[in-house]
Amino acid sequence: MAVYRLCVTTGSYLKAGTMDNIYATLVGTCGESPKQKLDRVGRDFAPGSVQKYKVRCAAELGEILLLRLHKERFAFFCKDPWYCSRICVTAPDGSAVHFPCYQWIDGYCTVELRPGTARTICQDSLPLLLDHRKRELHARQGCYRWKIFAPGFPRMVDVSSFQEMESDKNFALTKTVPCADQDDNSGNRYLPGFPMKIDIPSLLHMEPNIRYSATKTASLIFNALPASLGMKIRGLLDRKGSWKRLDDIRNIFWCHKTFTTEYVTEHWCEDSFFGYQYLNGVNPVMLHCLSSLPSKLPVTNDMVAPLLGPDTCLQTELERGHIFLADYWILAEAPVHCLNGRQQYVTAPLCLLWLNPQGVLLPLAIQLSQTPGPESPIFLPTDCELDWLLAKTWVRNSEFLVHENNTHFLCTHLLCEAFSMATLRQLPLCHPVFKLLLPHTRYTLQVNTIARATLLNPEGLVDKVQPPRQDHKAPPPSFPSQLCTPGELVKYLTAIIFNCSAQHAAVNSGQHDFGAWMPNAPSSMRQPPPQTKGNTTMKSYLDTLPEVNITCSNLLLFWLVSQEPKDQRPLGTYPDEHFTEEAPRQSIAAFQNCLAQISKEIRERNQSLALPYAYLDPPVIENSVSI
Ligand code: FE2
Repeated sequence: MAVYRLCVTTGSYLKAGTMDNIYATLVGTCGESPKQKLDRVGRDFAPGSVQKYKVRCAAELGEILLLRLHKERFAFFCKDPWYCSRICVTAPDGSAVHFPCYQWIDGYCTVELRPGTARTICQDSLPLLLDHRKRELHARQGCYRWKIFAPGFPRMVDVSSFQEMESDKNFALTKTVPCADQDDNSGNRYLPGFPMKIDIPSLLHMEPNIRYSATKTASLIFNALPASLGMKIRGLLDRKGSWKRLDDIRNIFWCHKTFTTEYVTEHWCEDSFFGYQYLNGVNPVMLHCLSSLPSKLPVTNDMVAPLLGPDTCLQTELERGHIFLADYWILAEAPVHCLNGRQQYVTAPLCLLWLNPQGVLLPLAIQLSQTPGPESPIFLPTDCELDWLLAKTWVRNSEFLVHENNTHFLCTHLLCEAFSMATLRQLPLCHPVFKLLLPHTRYTLQVNTIARATLLNPEGLVDKVQPPRQDHKAPPPSFPSQLCTPGELVKYLTAIIFNCSAQHAAVNSGQHDFGAWMPNAPSSMRQPPPQTKGNTTMKSYLDTLPEVNITCSNLLLFWLVSQEPKDQRPLGTYPDEHFTEEAPRQSIAAFQNCLAQISKEIRERNQSLALPYAYLDPPVIENSVSI
């Protein structure tokens, strides 16, 4: 007789426990244990519980290769999901094998887990383990199916497969064997070509392993409802027409002011703050250093000499590498649509900037189209104040459009979704790259599904606030079809993890701070760009900015996406311990030490800054794109 001791940990999430019967089978190189019910006096699998069991075998099993968990009906109780965190198996000789699980097991099924030691396919030779990999990936590819969002966009998750699973109800990330008593015969449901039951995303049917936790959902609703109701009660969401005074915009979100929103409201007109945002705002990706001016921007030295001063000239500053260009060419063909029944306008400006001897980046000249000529004057800081302010505001509108569509949505949300999908579909749980990337995929499919269902549908919030739907994005940078060296793998994994975490934090978290003062980030423009100088008045300026209800819808969106709902996992924190070996655990500890040092330096630096920059402080960077 050989006795194996099992220690089973149930997750501490709300409703993580189950009343279903759980059985276990151990599979070793020398045989299998009997299927044994895990049953003690009282409730076995309550949220947060750690329970111990014994599995008795006629003889020792050799090296433990697999642990099977069988979830079956208990009496007349309905099925309820179980979040199994991990299981530790102690062999008769005292050696312990850890089985990370960290997943919801829904319905009646059998889940097969491998020990936590990371293994690539080259390290597996046993047919049993090779077959396990194959079945695991087959099941996941049936669950996480690709769908085309729009031509030219990265592909996305097809949520209709989750609806099919909802009716199946027998799913887990590592399910490989359906139970004999499952109450349907849906083995073919995931095959390609199976007809979709619905053609719209359904938030209620998200697969449990990628769904927002109850805590996160409640937090999101708690953030959204009061702000939305407050605006509704005050009639702001229904009020069409121009703002009467700029100062009225201050009072939209009187209870959601931050140090930065106040700073922006105070300094938004200043050229130095306009330049500052190219480096420290939410879209710090636009600047190109120039060695010569492009022919489409015929700025002369005489135009900018008053700003450059007597000691230098445009050519000298170009040679010094102090002249920069923000070129919004990508907006040149952007289609526009109506808001509140009114035509909106988009332009594709060019903004020339100068890094002055004091290290301050200043706008030198703005041309509001890609085509120079009499109808596209070059606006200068020496123009009358409102002309220059309007030109800068057009650039800020272009910033908004490029930032939200490209920098934020495409380059973080959609790109990270594509990598999340590829990770889930192509790598088994035991693969080291799967263990590494899984924390950086958390909630990405869910938040993007929410965005598509609520913000990006034809009646959604983004459709109300953003005119352009770009049906052409730049030629995509090439991505290698294969990685041949460890160095290449490290490079791309680093890029993916950075994009999912720090890059998204940099372009997401400051949206409310920098956008709450709407003239600093207008979502749409109601008048065409000026073709002459000297005609701008405060009324024409206000009549160009978004109307009241559009402003408020946009601010509501900014407020929501800038507040990471609860249940956060900051960069470098891995409460789900998928790596069980010493070497990766030491690497994680070293990474966490580096992040702690970076955080210390950021906080020290912020103390001396007029406007602290905290979005890349590691404790406030989420591991994944989750909002
Ligand atoms: Fe985001």
